[in-house]
Amino acid sequence: MKNVLVTGGAGFIGANFVPYFIENNPDYHLVNLDALTYAGNLENVSEVENHERYTFVKGDIVDGDFIRNLFDKYQFHDVIHFAAESHVDNSISGPEAFIKTNVLGTFNLLDTARKLWMSAPNQYKPGFENARFHHVSTDEVYGTLGETGLFEETTPYAPNSPYSASKAGSDMIVRSYFHTYGMNVVTTNCSNNYGPKQHNEKLIPTIIRKALTGENIPIYGDGKNVRDWLYVLDHCKGIELAFKTGVAGETYNIGGRNERNNLQIVDRVCSILDQLKPKASGSYKEQITFVKDRPGHDLRYAIDATKIENELGWKADENFDTGIVKTIEWYLGKFAN
Ligand SMILES: NC(=O)c1ccc[n+]([C@@H]2O[C@H](COP(=O)([O-])OP(=O)(O)OC[C@H]3O[C@@H](n4cnc5c(N)ncnc54)[C@H](O)[C@@H]3O)[C@@H](O)[C@H]2O)c1
Repeated sequence: MKNVLVTGGAGFIGANFVPYFIENNPDYHLVNLDALTYAGNLENVSEVENHERYTFVKGDIVDGDFIRNLFDKYQFHDVIHFAAESHVDNSISGPEAFIKTNVLGTFNLLDTARKLWMSAPNQYKPGFENARFHHVSTDEVYGTLGETGLFEETTPYAPNSPYSASKAGSDMIVRSYFHTYGMNVVTTNCSNNYGPKQHNEKLIPTIIRKALTGENIPIYGDGKNVRDWLYVLDHCKGIELAFKTGVAGETYNIGGRNERNNLQIVDRVCSILDQLKPKASGSYKEQITFVKDRPGHDLRYAIDATKIENELGWKADENFDTGIVKTIEWYLGKFAN
């Protein structure tokens, strides 16, 4: 039985990944390390809390001594690193936490893993020959696109927010550990995720929540910002695939080929809500209001996922129209309680 460390497994994507990975990988005992910041919630992983191959540990990846002790105790064979400060708006009002967690925290994990796994550059210790560090990152590191074009793995980094800059910094540290030490690392850069267990502060949960409570549904600027939306479980499947079969030192873009602007998103969500939970009169669309745009708001992100599709055989199982219905049904259950 190998021990895998998953960081940030009480957050949105991590909490979708943890039960999926445990179910699919009977040869792993999974340790979920999470600081339980405002973004983490153990209810997100309640379905595995008593699983024999699951352990939860509360702790901060910024605390180097704590991380070293944890690696000593569990002798992790692999790391899959989700933990991050992830909300762009928070990175504008308070960037420091982003630099600490996303840059220093990633460094702590990488460097501790290197010391446990390797005796010298390019030399893995016995038992750790195939040990892998998988870094979960975002397409936001590439900056913004105009009306056309797609982010490829070769697109130069041009992060525009403190969030994306801190993720870009962490990606570069991971990259350097491959080139300098020959460490077995893989990075995936994914587009916007949606699905169950996302924090209420994010766009789609906000639209659903405000719609149901009868409040104004806030949309930034003119609502024309475009994102490439991927159902969270498709992201989890891509991470598992790249973790197991990706080439060391490579990066893989994961994206849904489902570009939508915010107006299209709010329109679709309101239409589905009108069907699934109709208002006494009128449509939820009447609650849509436009608010002052986010500073530095990137216009468009879109991913070219050809590399992971062709080289690793990944394919999204959901398109936006199927994934969004599942998502809304899940939130209707959550907000009804
Ligand atoms: N949400 C997206 O659309 C998206 C898209 C691409 C990539 N990503 C990346 O995927 C990862 C997960 O994103 P998410 O949306 O699930 O984020 P999230 O904010 O929902 O969850 C992050 C988790 O990390 C934990 N955490 C934060 N700081 C920590 C620290 N110092 N020590 C230990 N744990 C800490 C939080 O408690 C939380 O459980 C992030 O690295 C993010 O950059 C997210």
